[in-house]
Formats: sequence, C-alpha cells, structure tokens
Amino acid sequence: MSVKKLVLKSGYQIPLLGFGTYRLTGKECTRAVSEALNTGYVHIDTAVAYDNEEAVAHGIDDSGVNRSNIFITTKISRVGLQYGKVIEQCKSSLEKLQTDYIDLLLIHWPNSSIPIGETLDALHDLTEQKMIRSAGVSNFTIKHLKEALALNKLPICNNQVEYHPLLNQRELYEYCGQQKIVLTAYSPIARGKVSHHQVIQNLAERKDISAQQLSLAWLMQKQIVSIPKASTPEHINENYQSQFIDLTPEEMSLMEECNRDERLVNPPWAEF
Ligand SMILES: NC(=O)c1ccc[n+]([C@@H]2O[C@H](COP(=O)([O-])OP(=O)(O)OC[C@H]3O[C@@H](n4cnc5c(N)ncnc54)[C@H](OP(=O)(O)O)[C@@H]3O)[C@@H](O)[C@H]2O)c1
Repeated sequence: MSVKKLVLKSGYQIPLLGFGTYRLTGKECTRAVSEALNTGYVHIDTAVAYDNEEAVAHGIDDSGVNRSNIFITTKISRVGLQYGKVIEQCKSSLEKLQTDYIDLLLIHWPNSSIPIGETLDALHDLTEQKMIRSAGVSNFTIKHLKEALALNKLPICNNQVEYHPLLNQRELYEYCGQQKIVLTAYSPIARGKVSHHQVIQNLAERKDISAQQLSLAWLMQKQIVSIPKASTPEHINENYQSQFIDLTPEEMSLMEECNRDERLVNPPWAEF
C-alpha cells in the first residue's frame, strides 16, 4: 500500500507521512534515509540548519529510489531571509541535495527583523524559475500567517509546527484549515514522550499498537502531515505502519483530550 497524499495550494501533492532527519548527520543519516526509502517512505524532511543535505542526497542515491518518486522538503535559515540570501540558500541546497528542484521550501523560523514581503518575493521568484515547486513556512503563529497572507505574494502551502497529542494546537489547526494551508507536525511523537501519557498508553495497549503509532495515526487521520525521525530500522518500520491504523470517532476524541500545552521546542529566537 502506498503513502496517502494531500493536495497543496500549488496543485502539487504532499505525502501524509514523511521522514524527519533532525540530528541525523553523516553516515548515520545516509543509512537512515536509505532505510526509510526502502521501507516505503517517499517524503524526506531536511533543513539548511541540520547540516545534512549532502548526507540525505547520498541516502537517496544509495536507496536506488528514483528522485521523481520522492518529495523533498528543506528549510531556509532565519538568519538569511533577505531576498539575495534566500536565493543563495536555495541554490546551495539544490547543489547539496543533488537535484534541480525542491518539492517544498519553507522559511524555518519567522524573523520579524527582516520584512516578510522580501522573503516571499524570493520564494515567488524561485517558484517561477522552477527551482522550487511549493513554498511554505514553519513555526508561524496565526499572527505571522495573517501578515504573510495579507501581502498575497504567492500561495503559502504549508506550515510546519510542533504538533502532537501533548501539544494540540486547535486554533492554529482551524485557521490553517480555513486558509487551506496544510499543517505538518514536527516532533509528532513528542520525542518519545507520548508513551508516558496514561490515556495514550492504555488506548495503545487496547489496540495492540505502540503509543508512537497511535499518536501518528491520530495526526494523519486529522490530515496533518507527520514527519517522525527515527534511526533504527525497527522504529522506521513501526512508524511507517502507523498510516494503516484506523481510529474510531471515540478513539479520536480520547486523543483530543490528551493536550497539556506541552511545547518541547522553544529556542530563544522563537516568536510564539
Ligand atoms: N521546523 C522545525 O523547526 C522543526 C523542529 C524540530 C523538528 N523538525 C523536524 O521534525 C522531525 C521530527 O521531530 P523530532 O526529531 O524533533 O522528534 P520526534 O520525531 O517526535 O522523535 C524522535 C525521537 O523518537 C524516537 N523514536 C522514533 N520512533 C520511535 C518509536 N516508534 N518508538 C520509540 N521511539 C521512537 C527516535 O529515536 P531513534 O532515533 O533512536 O529511532 C528519536 O529519539 C525532525 O527530525 C525534523 O525533520 C522540525
């Protein structure tokens, strides 16, 4: 069975399940990416800041999977959001990833000291030049999204944010739904912490699946793209299988009640 996909505002499709690569570098990254692609993942998430785009490219190469069957997301660093620097970062990513287009290029973090219109102009031009297929943002709040959308420069297709049962961002979820912005959940298993929640653990046991699988299944059933990171073949496969798990409306509601507003990623430059 293949990975389900969602349609982005750009008209391109994004696979609902992706493979996260934060903290994977060098040979470990190459091995994990190749393993993920051979398991059936078709979507890889990387970033300029992860310093692993070359290792990701080697993983793609080793897997033998055709580039045209893979969806690559990368992100430009918040310190280079000026027009020229965005173009520069994108060209460097294309070179490191050994490809002539990026499926989805995101602004990694908002940076209010650089006018967002300038960054969006660059993303628009990169789209026109076919260096990227779709553009989006990451770590944007509703306020940031409103500012960006008001400029009407190009379709903002995606917002990648921390999202898991312990941080259920309902308002952002509803707003993105209204604006047809696909949400991507990063840290979708709360870096393992979902297994410490009693309700999640009980329900997972009842369904004979893991707490991690239950959390990923809940997200994907909400039409939220999920990009768990894993380094062992066991975790890579376990997470892959989560897309074939169905939750009943009662089980979905139970998961909705697990929220604790528990944010794990909140660096000093965040504008939450
Ligand atoms: N846009 C942003 O600002 C941003 C921020 C953070 C993350 N991200 C992206 O989102 C991806 C995922 O987020 P994340 O890496 O922070 O956290 P995560 O995917 O929630 O958790 C990764 C951790 O969970 C473990 N794990 C994976 N599958 C497991 C399973 N089935 N059972 C038990 N443990 C399991 C992994 O261990 P092993 O490695 O040992 O398998 C790893 O320690 C990142 O890799 C990155 O691509 C984006």
